This record gives sequence, C-alpha cells and structure tokens, in this order.
Amino acid sequence: MLVTQNITEIRQARWADPASTWGLVPTMGALHAGHISLAERAVAENDKSCATIFVNPTQFAPTDDLDKYPRTLERDLEMLEQAGINMVFTPTPAVMYPDGFGTRVLVDGVTDRLEGEHRPGHFDGVTQVVSKLFNIVQPTRAYFGQKDAQQTVVLKKLVRDLNFNLDLIVCPTVREPDGLAMSSRNRYLSAEERQHATVLYQSLSQAAEMIENGERDAENIRQMIADKVKSTPHAELIYSSVASNLDLSELETISGNILISLAVLVGDTRLIDNFMIDGIEPM
Ligand code: PAF
Repeated sequence: MLVTQNITEIRQARWADPASTWGLVPTMGALHAGHISLAERAVAENDKSCATIFVNPTQFAPTDDLDKYPRTLERDLEMLEQAGINMVFTPTPAVMYPDGFGTRVLVDGVTDRLEGEHRPGHFDGVTQVVSKLFNIVQPTRAYFGQKDAQQTVVLKKLVRDLNFNLDLIVCPTVREPDGLAMSSRNRYLSAEERQHATVLYQSLSQAAEMIENGERDAENIRQMIADKVKSTPHAELIYSSVASNLDLSELETISGNILISLAVLVGDTRLIDNFMIDGIEPM
C-alpha cells in the first residue's frame, strides 16, 4: 500500500494504468468500522482504491475540537491495508493549503440548515477540501457515510453543479450493538455518557415507529425527540429535524422521502444521527 503526502506521487499512481477504475474514501482518520465499510465497498467495486486521511482545519470553527480531534495514523493505516486499499494520501495542512492559497467552493441553500445553521462555515470547509481531493485523485467513485446525511446532500449538489466526473456513493450507517452510530467522537464519551448516548438511536427508532403507526405531523415528531433528549441525563438537544431529504427544508406534514435527524451534546461531545425514510404515503 502506497502511503504518501505528495500530490505528484498520488497522481502518478492513479494514472499508471488509465483504464483502471478508482474508488476514493475521504476520511479524517481515527478510523472505525464505519470507515472500513466504506473502504471495503470501494475495494469491491473498483479496480483500485485510495483513502485519504486529513483532519481538515477549514471545516472546524475556532471553538470546535480541531486540536483534540483524535489522530491514530499507524492504526488507521493497518486497518486500510487490511481492507485492501491500494494507496493512502496523508497530506499536511501546508500541502493542502500552501502559502497564498485563497480559493473557496460554496454550495448554496442546503448548507444553511441543520448542521450548517449550528456550525457556520463548516460545509464551506468540507466542499473546499473534498473538491481538492476529487481533483487530486480523480476517482471513478467516491464513498461517504449516511451518518453525515447533510454532508452527502451537499456533496451530491457539489458534484452535480461542478460536473465532477464521478459517482458519489452513500453507504449505510454502521452501528454499535445498542444502536449508537459509529463515530470517531464516541471515544470522548465517559462510560456513563456512553450509556446515555443511545438516546439518539432510540429517538429515531421511536420517530420511525410513530410514522409507521400513522403520525404525519412533523412537529409532533420533533417535539417527541426534544422531550426524550431532555429527560436523558448528560444530554442536551442542539436540534431535531423532520425535513425533505432533497432540500432539507423542515416539513409540516410528513409524506414522501424524509430525513429525520438530530444533534445532541452528550457531556461535551457533539453527536449526530439520522434515519432516512422513503415513500411515506399521506394518511
Ligand atoms: O466526513 C468526513 O470525515 C469529512 O467531512 C471529510 C469528507 C473527510 C472531509 O474532510
């Protein structure tokens, strides 16, 4: 497995056999089973696959957890090699943003809501770094997790609007046995907080059950989630949302294809999760 910080080496390896298809798995490292499911899918569906490990400073606000974001490079590389990845791009901030760098890539509309509303500028950093990674690797397919649902909506728009020549593949969220979505940030949770962190999955499961049983008032779902989080020790709701899965606008009446999502502070750790439900019939 080639591991390099060098863009020219990545390009040379990428184009050594121009007929090969390439899968790309962009990550910020601190890998877990969720990332590895993306890597395995990229390996299965392409001739060759590239992962990237870069904790992108431009998607963190000054108050965010950039400095304490976990860095576990050696273990990450072992996991990627085992998954069958062919090359790993591990650039430094100076490689990605050299002196004089000054280009931004802004996606309108879908970046303003949910995570975007609570983390201003976050998606501008994501679209900036992902555009660069797409241009550096020029993959045939790029793999992202459903856990970051809004990120996938934003990146699909980026690919469409800027005509990136690749297929963006969204892979299912990988969960712990008790339902907690895998996340690099889960390792910050104390044992007690970890127990209560299941409130995200439990709220989403209850929401899905309410809809299955005929609930069509979106506000009732948002309120149920808020109440459930409020009654959970160590948990503080940041937002609960029942939105159209196309433009992420909040719904009044539930029908069609929807995204139910929430962000919760558990102790000091910010967790997100979501369910996508398709084809809901009006009552
Ligand atoms: O999902 C992530 O880990 C990051 O937002 C990404 C896509 C690797 C860009 O830094």
